[in-house]
Formats: sequence, C-alpha cells, structure tokens
Amino acid sequence: MRAVVIRAFGDPGGLEVVDVPEPVPAPGQVRIATEAIGVGGVDALIRRGTLGAYGFREGHLLGSEVAGRVTAVGEGVDASWTGRRVWAFTGLSGGYAEQAVAAVEDVLALPDGLTGADAVTLGGSGVVAHFALDRARFTPGETVLVRGAAGSIGITAVQLAAGDGASAVAVTASSAERGARLRDLGATHVLDRSGESGTDAPAGFDVVIDVVGGPRLPFFLDKLNPNGRYVAVGVVGGQPPADFGMRLMDAFRRSLSFATFSSDTVPGPDRQAVRSSQFADAAHGNLRTVVHEVLPLGQAARAHRAMDAGEVFGRVVLTP
Ligand SMILES: NC(=O)c1ccc[n+]([C@@H]2O[C@H](COP(=O)([O-])OP(=O)(O)OC[C@H]3O[C@@H](n4cnc5c(N)ncnc54)[C@H](OP(=O)(O)O)[C@@H]3O)[C@@H](O)[C@H]2O)c1
Repeated sequence: MRAVVIRAFGDPGGLEVVDVPEPVPAPGQVRIATEAIGVGGVDALIRRGTLGAYGFREGHLLGSEVAGRVTAVGEGVDASWTGRRVWAFTGLSGGYAEQAVAAVEDVLALPDGLTGADAVTLGGSGVVAHFALDRARFTPGETVLVRGAAGSIGITAVQLAAGDGASAVAVTASSAERGARLRDLGATHVLDRSGESGTDAPAGFDVVIDVVGGPRLPFFLDKLNPNGRYVAVGVVGGQPPADFGMRLMDAFRRSLSFATFSSDTVPGPDRQAVRSSQFADAAHGNLRTVVHEVLPLGQAARAHRAMDAGEVFGRVVLTP
C-alpha cells in the first residue's frame, strides 16, 4: 500500500510517498481502509524534528487520525466491526496510509450524515476543546478568550463556549478575514495575535484557552480576571519564557490558576462519550467542522507547506 513517511526531518520536502506492506491488526486492533486522514499540528511538530526527544526516527509514518471502513479485525475483537465506517485514533503514527490500524478502544462508528473529512477534523480536536473548557471550570455568563482560534481545537472551543452561554468569546486571529469567519462561528470580539488590538473587547477574561503558548503567553496571563483560569493546550507558537511563572506569582492576590491540559489524561471511555456526542451534533448541523482543503495522500508535503505558511483555517484532510 502507499504511505507517507518522514525521509528527512525539517522541511516538508522531507516527506516521501513509499510502498509498504499492509499492516496486520494485532490482538485488540482493527484495520481500516482510509477514506480521510487528518493533518494535525502535531504532525508538523514531529516532521520538523521539534519532538526529537520523543524518539521519532527517519522513516516514521506520520498521522494520528483517520476515517474509513474496517477491513479486518485482530484477535479478541468483535467481528461485527468489519465493514463499518469508523473514525480512529492511530497514536502518533500510521495514519498517512491507505490502510491503518488502531486499538478498538480508540475506534468510533460514524453516524450517518458525517463525512470522513468532518470526522477527522473534529474527532481529535473536539475533545480537547471540550475538556479544556471543563478543566477551566467554565460556566455560563463568563468571559472566554481563545488564543489560536483558527485551528481545529480553537474553532470548536469558540463554538462550545458561545453555545454554552459565555457572555463574551474573544479570539486572537492573524487577519480580519479570519476574524470574520470566527465571528460567524460564535466569537464576539477579535484581537490580533499580539492581543493589543480589539479595544471593545473585555479588559479581562475569566477563562483563557491557549493553543499558542510562546513568548506572548505572560501577556495573556495578565488578561485574567481575579479567580481566572488559564488552560494551555498547545504550543504552536513555541515554549513560553522560562520565567513566566513569575507573572503568575506577581499576581498572587488575584488568585489565578494556570494549567496544562492533554486529552491523554482523560479516561478513554469519557473521551469516546464526548466524541460520540460531538459527532452526532456535527451530523445534525449543530456543531460546525471546518475543512480547509482536501488533498490526495501524495500531496502530504503540500498540506504541510500550507500549515507551515499559516494558510490553514481549520484542518487539511488527505484522501488515499
Ligand atoms: N492538549 C491536547 O490534548 C492536544 C491534542 C492535540 C494537539 N494538541 C496541540 O495543539 C496544537 C495544534 O492545535 P490546532 O491544530 O488547533 O492548531 P493549529 O491549527 O496548528 O494553530 C492554531 C492557530 O494558531 C495561530 N498561530 C499559529 N502559529 C502562531 C504563532 N507563532 N503565534 C501566534 N499564533 C499562531 C494560527 O492562527 P492565526 O494565524 O489566525 O493567528 C493558527 O491557525 C499543537 O501544539 C498540538 O501539539 C494538543
């Protein structure tokens, strides 16, 4: 089968289409003929070599979420999975291929009316948005800022916060056009990346959901109201300054909270329950997915170039 591997870390040109044997599902796994493959921010981090400490090697087959039809099951897996259309999390590898394997606990049947592209746009990121707001103890009436809102996590976080009765949902975005699209999804105020513009935005926020991190993180930490909660879910802008905790301590008397959040720490059945509910909402049009572009698998490098250039609003999807 065809698959895309990292031949050399760094530039997207290091991605290569290769022929590899079809994977055989191990005990507890299913094999899926992919119809849609999500291209995520974490794929770009791995390809750049940024996550070298995690032990990725040249030849790594990228991709962590796919949708398609189950073609085989491993030992111990109910044979009734065969033939079903599913979404699956494949871990940090194996997705950019015509056939992928996943543990059956990480597989979810797709509801009618949900395309594979929609599923891989929402499947991984939607639960991050949901549980990040949960971790922030967000309640209706509060003000929320989503930093890095133009990606799949942010797009869902904006919709969830707005739909759950936030009194204001501000976002950061790099252009007026993106700001307008985010307003259409429920944002009430748009700030630029620096957070300096948007004079009509609330001066402070009860909750910040941050996909970006990076050098500006302390500035956004200062935007928290007393008792405000900041949840860092991503680092697309790099690591924050090493001493950012000093800003938190300097604001001691405002009782601020800072948390990191990874969906890896959520029990699998809880993730699946939320995902299932979000898939149903998306199939009924109550939650919108934003597919930036659908490209053939062989153009994975082009998808990564678009991500590196900051051109992607939502998610790029590959098809085999
Ligand atoms: N916590 C978890 O469980 C979990 C799970 C999966 C992934 N992640 C993490 O989430 C991140 C990917 O999320 P995603 O796919 O939603 O994000 P994304 O699409 O990669 O980026 C989101 C937005 O951030 C803005 N941005 C990008 N680079 C920036 C920079 N240098 N400075 C300021 N803003 C910048 C861009 O919007 P504008 O151009 O409009 O500013 C971009 O659209 C990765 O860090 C990944 O590791 C976390």
